[in-house]
Amino acid sequence: MPNFREGLQDIVAASSSICYIDGDRGVLSYRGIDIHELAEKSNFEEVCYLLWFGRLPLDYELAALAAEMGKNRALPPEIIDILRMFPKDASPMDVLRTAVSALAFYDPDRESTLPEANLRKTYRLTGQVASIVAATDRIRKGLSIIPPDPQLKHAANFIQMLTGTKPDATAERALDVALILHADHEFNASTFAARVTAATLSDVHSAVVSAIGALKGPLHGGANIEVMRMLLAIGELSKVEPFVRETLASKRKISGFGHRVYHTEDPRATHLRQMSEDLCRSTGNSKWFEMSHLIEKIVKQEKKLNANVDFYSATVYYTLGIAVDLFTPIFAVSRISGWTAHIMEQLNNNRLIRPRSDYTGPTYPAPYLPMGKRKVS
Ligand code: COA
Repeated sequence: MPNFREGLQDIVAASSSICYIDGDRGVLSYRGIDIHELAEKSNFEEVCYLLWFGRLPLDYELAALAAEMGKNRALPPEIIDILRMFPKDASPMDVLRTAVSALAFYDPDRESTLPEANLRKTYRLTGQVASIVAATDRIRKGLSIIPPDPQLKHAANFIQMLTGTKPDATAERALDVALILHADHEFNASTFAARVTAATLSDVHSAVVSAIGALKGPLHGGANIEVMRMLLAIGELSKVEPFVRETLASKRKISGFGHRVYHTEDPRATHLRQMSEDLCRSTGNSKWFEMSHLIEKIVKQEKKLNANVDFYSATVYYTLGIAVDLFTPIFAVSRISGWTAHIMEQLNNNRLIRPRSDYTGPTYPAPYLPMGKRKVS
């Protein structure tokens, strides 16, 4: 097979004008704008505009989009009903996947796959994914569901719907920056899954469900949960070194390290490391940051592997008081912006995505043996 690479490593699958990565130089940009600049100066709403419409908004365009996003967060009552029916110990990622699938039934544009309907679905899904994650956590804790506040920005509204309290400026900005950093990442597994589904001319909800399923895995977005579980299991700074050395010696992976594309520091990790340090220190307990930092030092020394986006996001979310199994759903709260940008781009210039496999089965033509002559070797 020409161009065969296991795991599609370095294979270019389509053109895209959304996200540029240079894995050797540690560069990530959305529509050409460097992620460091966006993390410092932008906000999630502006990044959504950039991803969906291809350029930074003018002030009235940003205000209009923020208002649009603000009024599209409500969940249909039927979705709240089914959220209440799910097992209390269900994984919030499974709940999100199922609820997004069910949302398609109640979407006012469910019969349409026209571009303007897909844009409206994009606004709704961006608000509703956050509302589902917040409602899921409150329902399982036996708490009342907080209605969305259309006046609040995406990050502040999410924290308010999750905790019942309007966040302070530090918490709001921390989440807003985390949302900016997670918004898009070229043809990562979940985005590619979304594009494959969209390319069959299926609908936006189906494409997003495919993406959520892919994001859940611990080699992709699920890694941030694994990182925090690892830190909690290690428990204290003095136990870090033996844990890491033993894990590496037994050839097991340490979640939050390594990357298919970056051969140097993941630029998102640079921000998240600093945020983790600042947030941990602001609580007066920097244990989780210090443990993370020591893990990073040893993994770098021993395996020359860098921390990825999921490593320090874990302690950022934990310090913000977020339940560990919500970490990957929060990744989705942000990445829905990138998924929908890619779905719309795919549909704009669509061609079915249908690769080939490198066949390794029995040589053709293999005999069709009658029942009495078959043996299991
Ligand atoms: N811990 C220890 N070793 C690791 C590692 C990790 N987190 N990530 C990669 N490696 C090692 C592999 O064991 C392998 O070593 P080998 O060549 O001696 O067998 C080598 O590095 C290449 O790893 P591989 O899994 O083949 O790379 P990949 O490009 O297919 O996978 C990831 C990339 C991200 C899936 C992989 O680095 C990983 O599993 N990381 C942990 C999960 C994670 O953090 N995922 C989130 C990604 S943003």
